[in-house]
Amino acid sequence: MILVQISDTHIDEPGTLVYGHFDTSRALRKAVATINAMDPGPDLVLHTGDIASHGSAARYEAFRAITDDLNAPLVLIPGNHDNRDALRDVFGGTEILPTEGDFLHYVVDDYPVRLVCCDSVIADETPGEFCTERLNWLDQQLSAAPERPTIVALHHPPFYSGMTGSTAKGLVRGGEEFDAILRKHDQVVRVLAGHVHRPITTTFGGTIAMAGPTTCYPFGLDTGPENLLNVVHEPPSIGVHLWLEDASPAGPNLVSHVLPIGDWDEPITLLKNGVRVLATSD
Ligand SMILES: [Fe+2]
Ligand SMILES: [Fe+2]
Repeated sequence: MILVQISDTHIDEPGTLVYGHFDTSRALRKAVATINAMDPGPDLVLHTGDIASHGSAARYEAFRAITDDLNAPLVLIPGNHDNRDALRDVFGGTEILPTEGDFLHYVVDDYPVRLVCCDSVIADETPGEFCTERLNWLDQQLSAAPERPTIVALHHPPFYSGMTGSTAKGLVRGGEEFDAILRKHDQVVRVLAGHVHRPITTTFGGTIAMAGPTTCYPFGLDTGPENLLNVVHEPPSIGVHLWLEDASPAGPNLVSHVLPIGDWDEPITLLKNGVRVLATSD
């Protein structure tokens, strides 16, 4: 199974540059081209939130016009820039999002790795949370299939990132309870988040947690005294998560890569079917 993770696409209305600088629609089209060029292509694409720069039906329609070109099915969860009602207006009833309930959380059960997609949004606020209702829902979903390898997805990284502002730690409430629930369910092979616009990996809840990269404007790593949050000119990227049935002596495993988006020179092949086809110079 190949799962592609895209995140933080921040789509604005056509012709608008986010922060006056960033053509996020063009960036998403490049991401779609990169995904469609994968061979083999992904089984599924997961969007970990901040679909639009500010949630509105017009922006979600613009997002859908671009992602309709994806060769793989797409599922998505909301981020702090999103609006649940507008998301439902555009994607509700298309098997991507539930049409009922207060939260946009659901389970994708059709693949070797199960996806439990969580809604960590606090309406009109930047940081996220898990309330009691959402924690109970998560615990129930994980209790329902203890033997199935599972990814838990949410927008806000639950861990400390070493960055600043809401990118320092995404959850203002429910983080400790979220951690405790994950520790009860050892089938969780990964927690996947977004929000921080750069790939970050650490441990959380007794498993591996990873924030995926953005498709548009990456945030830099700044550990200096001014606590800057900078947009940096690193390549936007996608996450590629491979479920490898024979990954290790211990059995199947999820292996996560980061694939930069861009127009790169032709690759230089060193090995083909395990045979060296280009010798080193010495
Ligand atoms: Fe974002
Ligand atoms: Fe965000």
